[in-house]
Amino acid sequence: MATARAVRLLLTSSRWRLGRREVPQSRALAALVPGVSQVDNSSDFLGKRPHRRHPGILQLPCVELPKALAAAAQLLLLQSAMPNVEKQVRALTNYLWSRHLPVGPEELQRRAVYLEEKFLENPDLSQSEEKLRETVLRALRKTTYHWQELSYNEKLSLVYMAARLDGGFAAVSRAFHEIQARVPEFQPQTLLDFGSGTGSVTWAAHSTWGQSLREYMCVDSSAAMLDLAEKLLKGGSESGEPYVPGVFFRQFLPVSPKVQFDVVVSAFSLSELPSKADRTEVIHTLWRKTSHFLILVENGTKAGHSLLMDARDLVLKGKEKSPSDPRPGFVFAPVSIISAFPTMQRSELSYGQEK
Ligand SMILES: C[S@@+](CC[C@H](N)C(=O)[O-])C[C@H]1O[C@@H](n2cnc3c(N)ncnc32)[C@H](O)[C@@H]1O
Repeated sequence: MATARAVRLLLTSSRWRLGRREVPQSRALAALVPGVSQVDNSSDFLGKRPHRRHPGILQLPCVELPKALAAAAQLLLLQSAMPNVEKQVRALTNYLWSRHLPVGPEELQRRAVYLEEKFLENPDLSQSEEKLRETVLRALRKTTYHWQELSYNEKLSLVYMAARLDGGFAAVSRAFHEIQARVPEFQPQTLLDFGSGTGSVTWAAHSTWGQSLREYMCVDSSAAMLDLAEKLLKGGSESGEPYVPGVFFRQFLPVSPKVQFDVVVSAFSLSELPSKADRTEVIHTLWRKTSHFLILVENGTKAGHSLLMDARDLVLKGKEKSPSDPRPGFVFAPVSIISAFPTMQRSELSYGQEK
């Protein structure tokens, strides 16, 4: 932590004060952080190609919702005749972007001990043990973030759809595109989507690998969300042929450890789990359930970043994947995609890969 802060300060100051006798920032960084090598800008490491053509930069053209999905979503919103949709969409969007992680029991305990010590230091507040406990609890309640579980009933599911369908679709499409561009021979047949919500992952996967995918398993604890996702696939109605064949809806993850999927996704769903213990369990399960890629997507907030880092550590530093699948995992792309792909040469995947 101290090193990180020092590096940041060094970068800021050296940027503005690179005098004659000061070291360039890359060298200073290399001296401070082991493993960060010096970038020699005088060498032609890109072979005269401009930086924007760096092979690690993957261009994804502007993503649009499939027309059938957009039309079905509009129809469902019109049919619902929900008042003040825009206001509700704005409120939910703000809430989701400002959400923090739930505070765990260890952290609560640590804060309680700290507060108790603080109160005991103050002689004016000498009080009975019971009163002290009450004071600590009151202070804890005032200063602790109160995380609340969202109940995705019919109404909230519709508002979520209006707020996040396009953004969710685009974020997941970006991850799928990265895999497809770098591993074109990867043709997944099965996909598992945890916390599938409106089904945007299924639509994005179908747009990317529709030729090869034959099974999409959507798991969501909310029956209303599953209902909505199914209606969206059927053009906004309860009957009719689904736009994407082979989609299955479940409220629970498949139990059998033998059932695996080529691609496993959790998009914006880990942040819906009420505790770190729940997240740990789900991440272990999802990791066991993938035979190739595990894709985790969260909002680019402090909370989203922090839980993705925890997930990455769990997968990379954890025990073997499962007794029947001892292959080690590695990060395929920064932050959001983790993969077990033992058939590939590591050197092919060196960009953004964990060392
Ligand atoms: C924020 S929504 C994300 C939906 C979808 N993945 C997307 O990208 O639009 C989170 C979803 O996770 C579901 N969820 C929450 N806890 C769950 C659990 N324990 N098991 C399965 N689904 C869960 C919620 O019902 C909700 O539909």
